[in-house]
Amino acid sequence: MARGKKIYDGKAKTLFKGSEPGTIIQYFKDDATAFNAKKHEIISGKGVLNNRLSEFFMTGLKELGIPTHFIKRLNMREQLVMSAEIIPLEVVVRNFSAGSMSNRLGIKEGTRLPRPIVEFYYKNDELDDPLVTEEHAVAFNWATQIELDEIVTIALRVNDYLSGVMKAVGIRLIDFKIEIGRVFDNDYQGLLIADEISPDSCRLWDIETGEKLDKDVFRRDLGDLKDAYTEVAKRLGVI
Ligand code: TMP
Repeated sequence: MARGKKIYDGKAKTLFKGSEPGTIIQYFKDDATAFNAKKHEIISGKGVLNNRLSEFFMTGLKELGIPTHFIKRLNMREQLVMSAEIIPLEVVVRNFSAGSMSNRLGIKEGTRLPRPIVEFYYKNDELDDPLVTEEHAVAFNWATQIELDEIVTIALRVNDYLSGVMKAVGIRLIDFKIEIGRVFDNDYQGLLIADEISPDSCRLWDIETGEKLDKDVFRRDLGDLKDAYTEVAKRLGVI
């Protein structure tokens, strides 16, 4: 499929106009970044793995009736998705404490939380994506209260799906991040899951050994990121 004009060059993906109106081509790059791109490396093959893994998760969610932007994979590095207006919130669901929650609250990494916790971060690189409350989101018109309620429902359904899929292959879903878009298409109007779901945006620990199989391997210099993502893809039968 012919790519249209480049519309956005992100840290891990480039977006191009699709040939049909209302569609976008997501190109998955090999760039790995952390700490708001202060750390950056090219991990050969990461884009190919994330393209396949995001396809796998988005397809699974669609089968459960959870709307996503995914239309189809085009090739090794590109997928066709629906164009959406991205709500400027990173929606994080946590089952176990880790990362910024452990740092902020002094809870040991790996501590099981009494229930899944949904958090919102304001998408703003200059501010390093600060944690915000629903009050901020409504007051500053980032989303309506009705949308936020729906986002929490979607996020928890994604959590149930992803936790189950991972557990079946011996992986514990510690936490993950999703992004939500609005679409105003003739066929569908409402919220859907946009961006990607991949080991870049999840924390995945081997249930038996606790080995990290996600982007923390890169953030914390724990080993070979491509090996970790390949392990996830192999266990899920994606490669
Ligand atoms: P955090 O513990 O650093 O707040 O991260 C929570 C989850 O969100 C974790 O699974 C990694 C993911 N995440 C992203 O996908 N993008 C980001 O920019 C950050 C900071 C975290």
